[in-house]
Amino acid sequence: MKITVRVWRQANPSAEGKMVAYDLDHVSEHMSFLEMLDVLNERLTLEGEEPIAFDSDCREGICGMCGLVINGLAHGPERTTTCQLHMRSFKDGDVIDIEPWRSSSFPVVKDLVVDRGAFDRIIAAGGYISAPTGSAPEANNLPVPKADADHAFEAATCIGCGACVAACPNGSAMLFTAAKITHLGLLPQGQPERTSRVIGMVEQHDAEGFGNCTNIGECTAACPKGIPLDTISRLNRDLLGALAKGKA
Ligand code: SF4
Ligand code: FES
Repeated sequence: MKITVRVWRQANPSAEGKMVAYDLDHVSEHMSFLEMLDVLNERLTLEGEEPIAFDSDCREGICGMCGLVINGLAHGPERTTTCQLHMRSFKDGDVIDIEPWRSSSFPVVKDLVVDRGAFDRIIAAGGYISAPTGSAPEANNLPVPKADADHAFEAATCIGCGACVAACPNGSAMLFTAAKITHLGLLPQGQPERTSRVIGMVEQHDAEGFGNCTNIGECTAACPKGIPLDTISRLNRDLLGALAKGKA
């Protein structure tokens, strides 16, 4: 099929960016979205033009590196990661707008690449445990209720892609932060830092300039892993409990 892509081109963080249109022929519906960009980049390289910078790593929906706003939607029209999106989701003659995540806390590095270091700093502020690791302990020594294990696992599937931020009108990273807090806070190994974790991570979230959650729900609709909105309620309960402990 023939398509036109309009891509955000920005040479560096301080340069002005603009949308640039490219026509593509012979796009196979079986190509992934990133393969379509690979083909365009090969053409640009052969023509002596600067290829389009974009991030990817696993291309299997696991690492969270890829992330593009496609026709105004974080990760595009399907509920999946950009790397798992295929051209069969589009049709002949389509014009597709491709932009980086739009958040002042994720500054553009070049073209479609943004700096998501803010997420790393939120993790560093509390997304860890101090329990000694080593060989796997006997599972029956430390029973975890099935419901807690399931919720912890669900939260642990967050890949840190940032689509929740890109989709949120407030630019909030609460779904990401809540997923990390829930993942560790529901398990016995996560209890020693439970109070300091939630306070430290929420403080860092705010210091990075992310907005507040007002329960709009765009984050969970865009999340490729389906992290539910009530994960944020769990964060709020943990935060209130931690703050109350601090005052006691
Ligand atoms: S909560 Fe979902 S959208 Fe947000 S970073 Fe995690 S996986 Fe990505
Ligand atoms: S490249 Fe790893 S999730 Fe898309």
